[in-house]
Amino acid sequence: MVTEELIGVERRGEVCILTLRRPDKLNALSYAVEEALAEALASEKLCASRAIVIVGEGRAFSAGADVTEFRDATPASILAYYRATGAVYERFAALPQPTVAAIHGWCVGGGLELALAADFRVADESARFKLPEVAIGIIPSSGGTHRLVRLLGTARAKELVLLRERVDAAEAFRIGLVTEVVATGTALERSIELAEGLATLPALALSLAKEAIDAMAESSRDAGLLIERVAYAALAQTPDAQGAVEEFLSGQGSSDGGGAA
Ligand code: COA
Repeated sequence: MVTEELIGVERRGEVCILTLRRPDKLNALSYAVEEALAEALASEKLCASRAIVIVGEGRAFSAGADVTEFRDATPASILAYYRATGAVYERFAALPQPTVAAIHGWCVGGGLELALAADFRVADESARFKLPEVAIGIIPSSGGTHRLVRLLGTARAKELVLLRERVDAAEAFRIGLVTEVVATGTALERSIELAEGLATLPALALSLAKEAIDAMAESSRDAGLLIERVAYAALAQTPDAQGAVEEFLSGQGSSDGGGAA
């Protein structure tokens, strides 16, 4: 089965762990890997989970797109690719569950773009980031310009894309490229811990909060306000929200004032 061979899909409780499994090529994202990832995103194991972690097997998160594959590409075939397996980066970004990329070693090109499509990026101290595309005559085209600009701003995005600055874990944290840096060898463990915490939160509220924040980057202020108000209206009567109010009220009634001392 393609999925399990190139992309591991493992459930640990409510968390689904996706593992890029092409370690001999530093998890280079070939068409086959992207196809397997798309299959994994549609799998029952993943769809029924409440938080997702993505990690690379071996000594790297991912060295990016498989450079051997674009040699014979034509404009038409590349556009067709983005309607097929190349759409997987956007699909990953659009998952309703929260996602965490656990990063160690090289996180390059398309590998970094995949990590950028996650909600959180936990890097260990061995992580190294770069976007080398311009040097090989192409550009980052799976989010490496638009997602990076939204995350870091234009100037930093140009440093990474045009100057092709190589960034270590500490610098990645300083500029906001990753959300957390942990000791070497512990990125997966910490990412699972983060995902387990997220998995305990009300799933619908979490996914609407994620979608509202992601939509905000594309929206006017008025549209943004509308999205969050409609989301709140949809959520206020859910059992999760109603249960939380009941719990709060009963806690207040039974304690000495209900507040912090
Ligand atoms: N596509 C296909 N194969 C790749 C690859 C990629 N993007 N990146 C690495 N590999 C392969 C290498 O060819 C090598 O295979 P081999 O052992 O059969 O010769 C193996 O993975 C290990 O890579 P290697 O270059 O020996 O590791 P390194 O630690 O010396 O260097 C990198 C790591 C990431 C700096 C280097 O592999 C690299 O620059 N890769 C290409 C990055 C790139 O251009 N990505 C695409 C952006 S669009």
